[in-house]
Amino acid sequence: MTASALHSTLPPLGEEQRRHAAKVAALLHAEIARHGGWLSFEKFMELALYAPGLGYYSAGAVKIGAAGDFVTAPEVSDLFSRCMALQCAQVLGETGGDILELGAGTGRMAAGILAELHQQGQLPQRYLIVEVSADLAARQRQRIAHLPAILRERVSWLTQLPVAFTGVVLANEVADALPCRRVRLRAGQWQELGVSSVAAATAAGVAPDGSAGFIECARAADAQLRESCEALEHELPQPLPDDYETELCPRLTPWIAALCGALARGAILVCDYGLPRRHYYHPQRVRGTLVCHYRQRVHTDPYINPGVQDITAWVDFTRVAEAGDAAGMAVAGFVTQAAFLLGVGLPRLMEQLTDTVRRLQLAGEARRLLMPGEMGEAFKVMALTRGFDTPLLGTTQQDLRHLL
Ligand SMILES: C[S@@+](CC[C@H](N)C(=O)[O-])C[C@H]1O[C@@H](n2cnc3c(N)ncnc32)[C@H](O)[C@@H]1O
Repeated sequence: MTASALHSTLPPLGEEQRRHAAKVAALLHAEIARHGGWLSFEKFMELALYAPGLGYYSAGAVKIGAAGDFVTAPEVSDLFSRCMALQCAQVLGETGGDILELGAGTGRMAAGILAELHQQGQLPQRYLIVEVSADLAARQRQRIAHLPAILRERVSWLTQLPVAFTGVVLANEVADALPCRRVRLRAGQWQELGVSSVAAATAAGVAPDGSAGFIECARAADAQLRESCEALEHELPQPLPDDYETELCPRLTPWIAALCGALARGAILVCDYGLPRRHYYHPQRVRGTLVCHYRQRVHTDPYINPGVQDITAWVDFTRVAEAGDAAGMAVAGFVTQAAFLLGVGLPRLMEQLTDTVRRLQLAGEARRLLMPGEMGEAFKVMALTRGFDTPLLGTTQQDLRHLL
């Protein structure tokens, strides 16, 4: 799709969104100027998503769910949270301890997991949430406040990871929201993609089609980035073509290392759209995996709609496994979302329903979670465990670890 065709198919920004996007654009242009006229894509993404009070995740608009920009598995169906609860129940039954959720979005999964565990008679003492977005944390508190006291009193929000945590750590669609670097291989040399300001852009504000005066520019990669890219190239079974563009997410390694460092005993479940490295960096994937979500549309221009659209890249699950392994964890499973949900018992949850109308409705939701053309295959679940050797229910149907 060309840039103009792309912009013309997106809904135009409303007045308030335009005002907000103009503030975010002004911040980004100022940062570009402060950095001598060029900002790495990673820094651009960080500010566009997380600049305090301004970034997409930090500011006040509805983001997640049918009324927002994109829908995640817990928002598609409570079946997802109930299945997560069954997986948590298995681990907690053996290890004891609590649940820790990273990036809890609207709080819907937390509420669903607690309700299911209550039904199973396996409520943990605590359900902890670490959330970087003040706006989403407020939405989570609102939702949790409506739960019965026996559930809501277990939930608390932490500003940093706990120490020597025992239990289950959950991160659904968080890794894909970590700012990544973008690179291009041109004439045998690795370049880093970044952004500059079009002359006079700061004063021009944001156009109704979301254009905000940013232009993509490449620079020679610094020594560290070049080394990472070359190491990656050497690992791949096929050479990459000229002009190949992709992303690297160096922040993923320390993030996983920190989660592993916090876990004394139990399991970490990283759920996200992603691939093993050799599939992620396939020669045919010449423009990488980066996409933007705006009002339920997916497109590939991160330089429009600053602060009012999501920017996300797929997860290199080999990197997750390497970080877990380096932290002394067992890579206990790597499966598609469909295999995970079937393994923990989604069909049994469906069978328990006696109301035909409800069953038909849930069958539609289950299809969205399970079908290969929907969320079933692109989304994966990786399990990292420490001091827990029993095969996880969610990993009994499939084993994709040989692809890592
Ligand atoms: C795409 S949303 C997914 C929300 C939710 N897990 C769901 O599935 O609906 C990404 C979430 O991760 C949060 N987030 C991003 N980086 C984070 C980090 N380093 N630690 C904790 N949360 C983070 C965002 O604020 C947001 O809540």
